[in-house]
Amino acid sequence: MVRLNGRFNQAHVAGKTTAHRRTIWGIRQPLLSQAVPPKPVAPVKFYGTLTFSIRAGGRGTNILCALFMAASNPRICCLKALQRWESSREFADGVLHRTLEQSDLPQSNRAFVTETFYGVIRNRTLLDFVIRRFRANKLDAATRQVLRLGLYQLYKMRIPAHAAVYETVNIAGPARTLVNAILRKSIAEKEAVLEELENAPVHVRYSHPEFLYLKWQGAWGETEATQLCAWNNQPAKIYVRANELRVTPGELLHSVPGAKPLPDREDCLEVEHLPSEWISAGVVYVQDPSTLIPCELLAPKPGERVLDACAAPGGKACYLAQLMQNRGQLFAGDYEPLRLSRLQQNLVRLGVTNTEVILVDWLRSPLPAGSPTFDAILVDAPCSNTGVIRRRTDVRWRLTPDDFRRMSHLQLRMVENIVPYLRRGGRMVYSTCSIEPEENEQVVSEILNQFPQLACLESRKVGPLQNNMDGAFAALFQND
Ligand SMILES: C[S@@+](CC[C@H](N)C(=O)[O-])C[C@H]1O[C@@H](n2cnc3c(N)ncnc32)[C@H](O)[C@@H]1O
Repeated sequence: MVRLNGRFNQAHVAGKTTAHRRTIWGIRQPLLSQAVPPKPVAPVKFYGTLTFSIRAGGRGTNILCALFMAASNPRICCLKALQRWESSREFADGVLHRTLEQSDLPQSNRAFVTETFYGVIRNRTLLDFVIRRFRANKLDAATRQVLRLGLYQLYKMRIPAHAAVYETVNIAGPARTLVNAILRKSIAEKEAVLEELENAPVHVRYSHPEFLYLKWQGAWGETEATQLCAWNNQPAKIYVRANELRVTPGELLHSVPGAKPLPDREDCLEVEHLPSEWISAGVVYVQDPSTLIPCELLAPKPGERVLDACAAPGGKACYLAQLMQNRGQLFAGDYEPLRLSRLQQNLVRLGVTNTEVILVDWLRSPLPAGSPTFDAILVDAPCSNTGVIRRRTDVRWRLTPDDFRRMSHLQLRMVENIVPYLRRGGRMVYSTCSIEPEENEQVVSEILNQFPQLACLESRKVGPLQNNMDGAFAALFQND
């Protein structure tokens, strides 16, 4: 049983099946153990009749369209996921995961759904540009989505055009005539369309919100902003970190042909496909090398008491534990019970034994007064994620121009509530996966203004164009 010198005002909750226990700090309700495991998702079958509303091409009539065997049609599955994503605030990954879970599609069709779902989201403005060229009048949302799906296949995938048209028109319900006409015209005039696209504004060509492109262009100039948009639309490479609590990078390298170590760090390998066996055996963690930088800047030592304040799902916590050689105490906090549950699973899978998971909301109920302080704290703050748009395809469409200011206020408030737990002489790293100065350098300046006892010793910023990796920022502070 892990004890914290008996000085925390805390409730221990015995872990159900793992060696880890959850400690709930600063939360006065009864034990929250029931909140931690993921909610079971009710299986929903779509065999039979699937109904959804399609407004026929601009005529304004809502027609209920019955589609049979939806579960076995990958295009319907993709449309369903796109509609769910459009009409909710859910993340694309979650929407796709749930939609596939509820389908009976074979593996090859799942790959098609994944590619078309992310592809349509990634190329949204470009596809709408093509639609507008052939259809100036307003379109209802469902028909637009069918057209985006059809055009994505015609313009971005190597699918025979006749098959793409036939299959897409088949699922267009009452809008089939309109969809058929637009898709056929877009094939006949493809060359002209591609030429027009080459001269289209950057935010159209690379499908980014215009405000975001203009912000980047203002900050770094046209060339860099354009290159960044192009990078964001490339398929993201897959990197895994060798978990040295279980395996050496050398052992890993020799067990899978085709895995390539990164030139400047042998513990990270580029792989062609997600190595599911390695993942479940806990010998690797899938993460971009940029995510390791804040941990290395913090440089936790074996035997220290360390806090990872915003830890879920645990990519950095697992690496911090490795740097600590599983010795000392690592406390991994977060306020999202479901994410904490994933964190807990990751710790177990990777063989981390020095870590306690804590449920804590830094904005509402941070640790109680009198809690012991930490030698080192990582604040991997929630952020706009603009450094990882290549991996998080939908991030760009959820952003608004106000988000950067709003996030920086939130980040600062979190740091304000965390700094009191840093011991004198201790280190703190503030990090984000944003490339925006509002969330990085400007937050650092504010931290220094508010906490004169902190000195900023070093900061690191990496970015897609400069370092060929995801964008990330980390600043190291020392408490006087
Ligand atoms: C950038 S993510 C952390 C990623 C994590 N460090 C990793 O490497 O896997 C930020 C985390 O902060 C958590 N978070 C956001 N607001 C919070 C709050 N008020 N209190 C505690 N955690 C919060 C989110 O749930 C999210 O898991």
